[in-house]
Amino acid sequence: MINDLVIYAARIPNLSEQDIFWYAAALLAERQKKITSYRQRNDRLRSLTAGLLLRQALENDCDIAIGDTNLLLTDYGKPYLAGRPNVNFNISHSGDWVVCAVDKQPVGIDIEKIEVPVDLKLVKHFFSQQEYADISSLHVQEQATRFFQVWTHKESYVKALGIGLYMPLNSFTVGISDNDYSVLVDEGKQLWFLKEYEVDKDYVLTVCAAHNLFPPTVTIRDVLESNKRLVV
Ligand SMILES: CC(C)(COP(=O)(O)OP(=O)(O)OC[C@H]1O[C@@H](n2cnc3c(N)ncnc32)[C@H](O)[C@@H]1OP(=O)(O)O)[C@@H](O)C(=O)NCCC(=O)NCCS
Repeated sequence: MINDLVIYAARIPNLSEQDIFWYAAALLAERQKKITSYRQRNDRLRSLTAGLLLRQALENDCDIAIGDTNLLLTDYGKPYLAGRPNVNFNISHSGDWVVCAVDKQPVGIDIEKIEVPVDLKLVKHFFSQQEYADISSLHVQEQATRFFQVWTHKESYVKALGIGLYMPLNSFTVGISDNDYSVLVDEGKQLWFLKEYEVDKDYVLTVCAAHNLFPPTVTIRDVLESNKRLVV
């Protein structure tokens, strides 16, 4: 059983097809299938990195050996571990990075690469009126950072809920706090806590948890180094 919320990040490594195959063989069967289903090598590498990050977190933080569990999907497509209601995890990828959060309670994570400039038409379409007003009032350079802050807050929340983008992002408003974390109260009156981390200055990363006991930093992993024993 996991004790505290843990957050990991890894840069996507460059591997030969042969090595992708060997590393993938050490992962959960469902992840192996997913990796081989991708036609693009970059997608295979991204999915492999996510699988390796998750495998290591399950082994080290939850004492779960890879052979002792399997992955299932909710009706909304959120992966979860069969028969382990106290082990919740979530994965996100963007550009060079894959991130993974594991917690006792539902958790959501989202990382996005900051792309400039922001299309305000998109902001108007996807965000609430208040968020649109806030972002459009900013200077062009600041608009992009704020856009991706709001985006990762929203997406980490809908991923913690497990609904994903089936929940319209303009149906609720997130406040970006200057404090250590932001708080969101959903319609069911549950409190959610959102914290931003910096793993790379060109990316924004937000984690949404059901409590405010966030680790101070994200642990950066070299997935090849830390999983080397899997392929020797
Ligand atoms: C889940 C979703 C929010 C992911 O967004 P994204 O920015 O593309 O991708 P991210 O890298 O942040 O996250 C991907 C991970 O989220 C996880 N995930 C998938 N469905 C999820 C859900 N319903 N809730 C939480 N997490 C989910 C998976 O682990 C996935 O990684 P994996 O494929 O390596 O296992 C989004 O794809 C979604 O909601 N899809 C379903 C609805 C949909 O497709 N709508 C389209 C029109 S609105």
